[in-house]
Amino acid sequence: MRCVEPVAHLRGTVEVPGDKSASHRAVLLGALGEGPSRIERLSLGDDVARTLAIAQALGASVEREGATTVIDGTAGLAPAAAALECGNSGTTMRLVAGLASTIAGTHRLVGDPSLSRRPMDRVAVPLRAMGAQLEGTGERCTAPLTVLGRDVLTALDYVVPVPSAQVKSAILLAGLAGDGPTSVTEAVRTRATTETMLHAAGVRVEVEEQGLGRRVRVWPARPRPHDWRIPADPSQAAFFAVLASIHPDAALEVPDLADEPERLGFVGVLTRMGAALTLRRHEGRASLHAVSSALCATEVDAREIPSVDEVPVLTVAAVAATGTTVFRDVGELRVKESDRFAACIGLASALGARAWGEGDDLYVEGLGGSNRFARAELDAGLDHRMVMAAAVAGVAGAGACVEGAETVSTSFPAFFERLEALA
Ligand code: S3P
Repeated sequence: MRCVEPVAHLRGTVEVPGDKSASHRAVLLGALGEGPSRIERLSLGDDVARTLAIAQALGASVEREGATTVIDGTAGLAPAAAALECGNSGTTMRLVAGLASTIAGTHRLVGDPSLSRRPMDRVAVPLRAMGAQLEGTGERCTAPLTVLGRDVLTALDYVVPVPSAQVKSAILLAGLAGDGPTSVTEAVRTRATTETMLHAAGVRVEVEEQGLGRRVRVWPARPRPHDWRIPADPSQAAFFAVLASIHPDAALEVPDLADEPERLGFVGVLTRMGAALTLRRHEGRASLHAVSSALCATEVDAREIPSVDEVPVLTVAAVAATGTTVFRDVGELRVKESDRFAACIGLASALGARAWGEGDDLYVEGLGGSNRFARAELDAGLDHRMVMAAAVAGVAGAGACVEGAETVSTSFPAFFERLEALA
């Protein structure tokens, strides 16, 4: 159990980790390249460490040169003798399932109890259609997962039933070994990290915007080595944007963020709620500045924040707001690192607010200020984002005690140190 206490004034610049999504991709593309790829500001959380260890187990060489990670796939990739341990990381398991589908032989992917409950059928279905064999448990094909890969896969045109960057990415990675171009069509645009990075690594990629969605096409190729400077993670910045907004006396800056529309939807939501946020943009990066603000309720459409990663901390903003906020169509929350739909209701209740679900809509009745928060006690299970959301509420409100706080190591090992440094 870890407790945080309220802090009277918050000032400073917050260094958040390298973008987790870009970090996973940089490692996997590097593992495919013939020659060294240098990665600066790789996310140092457990999730990316799992992907890195898996890349190594498959045959890539990994070295550290100061703060730079160097990965080289010259030797080529082959199945590992031992199981590939994905830990808590859905991104690792789904992307590696796509990559392993292109490596002839049998791969076994395992995860922690949280990951072993999450649906893998969403990648198994398209990857099977491409000729790989995937086996898991039950209808949702949960881990442990066995993947029988092949050197050449059947090219596929796939319409994803649920918007998911992980599913899109698994298919695009498998498409690198296709017998022709493979396409993924999504009804709602998800983060474009994979397609952007594949393009940078010399792979032919075509993107067609289609209303709110897009179609991405990839041609078979071996990605070229590339040097990556990973931007700071916008999903981590969201915690500090909410913290500053709901705190009575705060001014915080989070620099060098990935300036991607699919990742910064939370800025629009908070601005609509009355948060005084400023985004300063420069050469594909954005600095986010946030100060204390009085928030009012809003209606949030899941399409504004695809992947819904920011809903836990936006729930805290909704508790601080005046009025009832509704998050529409956020059923995906139920299959994240924990059942975040239930966990967000639990967090709002622990803070003293009324919150409830109606179908896939989540309602939070605001208390009208973080000075009205109760001191929260919460069991975050194995869910890093629930820990960080509760800690933000505690620092801005009346303190919070969280069971399972150590799980921040998944994505942001230095989270509590960064938080303490702002006081
Ligand atoms: C991610 C995609 C999202 C997100 C996760 C990272 C990625 O998941 O929740 O934290 O790097 O592709 P979905 O693909 O399930 O939306």
